[in-house]
Amino acid sequence: MIPRGRRGIVIAIDGPAGVGKSTVGHLVAKSLGCPFVNSGEMYRALTWKAMQIGVDVNDAARVASLATGLRWEFHPTAEGTMRTFIDGENVAAHIRDERVSAASSAVAANPEVRRFLCRLQRGLGASSSIVMEGRDIGTHVFPDADYKIYLDAEVGERAKRRYRQLKASGLPAGLQRIREAMLKRDLSDLKRRINPLCQADDAIVIDSTHLTLHEVASKIIRLIRRPSSNGRSRRAGARPRPEVERPGRVQEGRRRAGARRARR
Ligand code: DC
Repeated sequence: MIPRGRRGIVIAIDGPAGVGKSTVGHLVAKSLGCPFVNSGEMYRALTWKAMQIGVDVNDAARVASLATGLRWEFHPTAEGTMRTFIDGENVAAHIRDERVSAASSAVAANPEVRRFLCRLQRGLGASSSIVMEGRDIGTHVFPDADYKIYLDAEVGERAKRRYRQLKASGLPAGLQRIREAMLKRDLSDLKRRINPLCQADDAIVIDSTHLTLHEVASKIIRLIRRPSSNGRSRRAGARPRPEVERPGRVQEGRRRAGARRARR
């Protein structure tokens, strides 16, 4: 088990759609014995609920009021992955549909929704070690995270991974359509005004295009377990020096903006 500081350590994993953040995050958390949170699940849950009850996802005020009116709960699976429940319902079976994926961009661009979900996300990491993945975890939700990983991969590879995932879950999938939808979502995540997808200045960038997700997870685990100069594992709060596996693909301007966009 990793050493715990006052509140444990936070490992933030950010990156574009379909890059394997969830699989990697789950593997890292399992190996470290701490909970794993997929923050995208919260945006998806709200999107699904809005669609289900006929709320226009572009109606920012109604979606925000829906978000705050729901009862949000997070329960761990046996493996430590936190699952989102809204109004007592486990949303897992509903939120992977491509229609929910497409509509989630509008919900994720809603400033009130982001503020609200960010509070929930911070709450989950307030008292124990946690691995959380998303788009703005290292730049906004936990700008003081102990480890910040920015995962990237070529869009063709990301689309193939999502395609295989959907097929394996028995959901309808078309590779070309997934690729186009992914590019559209990337653009929307990168361009949105509030907390866009961007890599933190001190993030460790890993390109997973030619790596298996197990290899990526092992790299991260090694990094966390790497002994410090006194021979012990790093303690919470002792940040690793940023290591760039390869230059990030996100524009420089974006990276700097992300670094400045510290906790508000
Ligand atoms: O990672 P995902 O595809 O499940 O995310 C669903 C949506 O939520 C997607 O539009 C990106 C958005 N998202 C976000 O804006 N910020 C996060 N921290 C996590 C997800």
